[in-house]
Amino acid sequence: MNITIIGSGYVGLVTGVCLAQIGHRVICIDNDAEKTKKLQQGKVPIYEPGLEELMKPLMKKKRLSFTTTFRAAIKASEVIFIAVGTPSKKSGEADLTYVENVAREIAVNMDSYKLIVEKSTVPAATGKRIERTVKMNLPKKLREGKRRIEFDVASNPEFLREGAAIDDFMNPDRVVIGVESKRAERLLREVYKPLKTHMVVTNINSAEMIKHAANSFLATKISFANALSQICDRVGADILKVADGMGYDRRIGRSFLNAGIGYGGSCFPKDVDAFIRLSEKSGYPFELLKEVRNINEQQKAAFVKLVEDKLWILKNKVIGVLGLAFKPDTDDMRNAPSIDIIRALQHEGARIKAYDPQAVANSRPYLKGVTYGKDPYATAKGCDCLLLLTEWAEFKKLNYKKIGQSMNRALIFDGRNFLNDKDLENNGFEYHGIGRGRPVENP
Ligand code: UDX
Repeated sequence: MNITIIGSGYVGLVTGVCLAQIGHRVICIDNDAEKTKKLQQGKVPIYEPGLEELMKPLMKKKRLSFTTTFRAAIKASEVIFIAVGTPSKKSGEADLTYVENVAREIAVNMDSYKLIVEKSTVPAATGKRIERTVKMNLPKKLREGKRRIEFDVASNPEFLREGAAIDDFMNPDRVVIGVESKRAERLLREVYKPLKTHMVVTNINSAEMIKHAANSFLATKISFANALSQICDRVGADILKVADGMGYDRRIGRSFLNAGIGYGGSCFPKDVDAFIRLSEKSGYPFELLKEVRNINEQQKAAFVKLVEDKLWILKNKVIGVLGLAFKPDTDDMRNAPSIDIIRALQHEGARIKAYDPQAVANSRPYLKGVTYGKDPYATAKGCDCLLLLTEWAEFKKLNYKKIGQSMNRALIFDGRNFLNDKDLENNGFEYHGIGRGRPVENP
């Protein structure tokens, strides 16, 4: 099939590359000329394992191309995905300016039937608004009479995780499509046919709700585990065992019960905020989600408190940070918990030395006054303590004996419960995780 994707951000790019990989001919449009130029040269502007390798051969085979011009790209395809950004407004509500602009662009450029699919995360009922916008902006001669053009709007929310996006696309747990006509359903089923996965077919509003519900529920699981971790510390229980014990129950499941310094990224914080706003506007304020958000904020503050408790005076102490990205296998710093934690420590006068395998460049605009080490060893040298804030696999394989010996004090705070506490203690470290049953001395 011929498919056009509008917006070459994270979601648009991964979707475009993967749709080309499963056999379609894909055109990606973005109004950022510089980004598009890079993409045309086969360079991926984000760090996503495997994406660039997949992209280059597809471009060579002419199954994937990049452009900044709307007209030809809209004309060429029957199915058009909208994957533009939906940033948060101050109120937490999603800003749909780009979505509206794109709907208008499609309307003025289309010359035959189109299926317009929303892929960006949007508030429920946005599909209806897209439909109205396209209708209103279609030239009059194409709206009625002999040359009348038909179109459909559909919703197809994405569930891709950064760092694992290609695998998530190729092997999804399900594909959700919200459609209001047989033709739209047939076309979207055809798009995803090569994946041979379970399709959840529903109306547009329900598909949009599924996205709100899934992300908020995952965020709730994380905050539930984080709240448990606080109690574990106070009663001398170990959150890792508690989560395992809960997780073996198939009704609960072990995933997303990892306690730590809270969730970050471009999705959960923004999506939870947007859903809270939507619920308020709908007349049913979703109070539980407000607490999910509160617990997530408290978790970062509690971590800073723990560091303060063990180091006592933070002024002029040198703190080494391993990992800055909001999670491993990405260079994304958006809403990374490391930002708030580092700023709070700096506020108390601590000096920060940091290292991340991929996110250093992206971290600079968020972090002022931080010095960067060239590797974990150089970063830890001479520090009064180490904080592990992102669980990059390579941090498990470090020579902690060597690291501990080079530090001013062999003290480590594992914000992701990622390292082996016993090994570290055997290597001379004082180890502190999250909710491992070792209470803060002065809570
Ligand atoms: C998420 C959803 O998983 C995906 O389906 C959606 O489409 C986009 O948002 P992503 O933001 O890439 O994906 O990352 P994810 O792996 O879900 O992690 C989000 C955050 O939660 C990270 O900061 C991670 O560290 C944190 N997290 C995750 C925990 O703190 N504990 C957990 O148990 C799981």
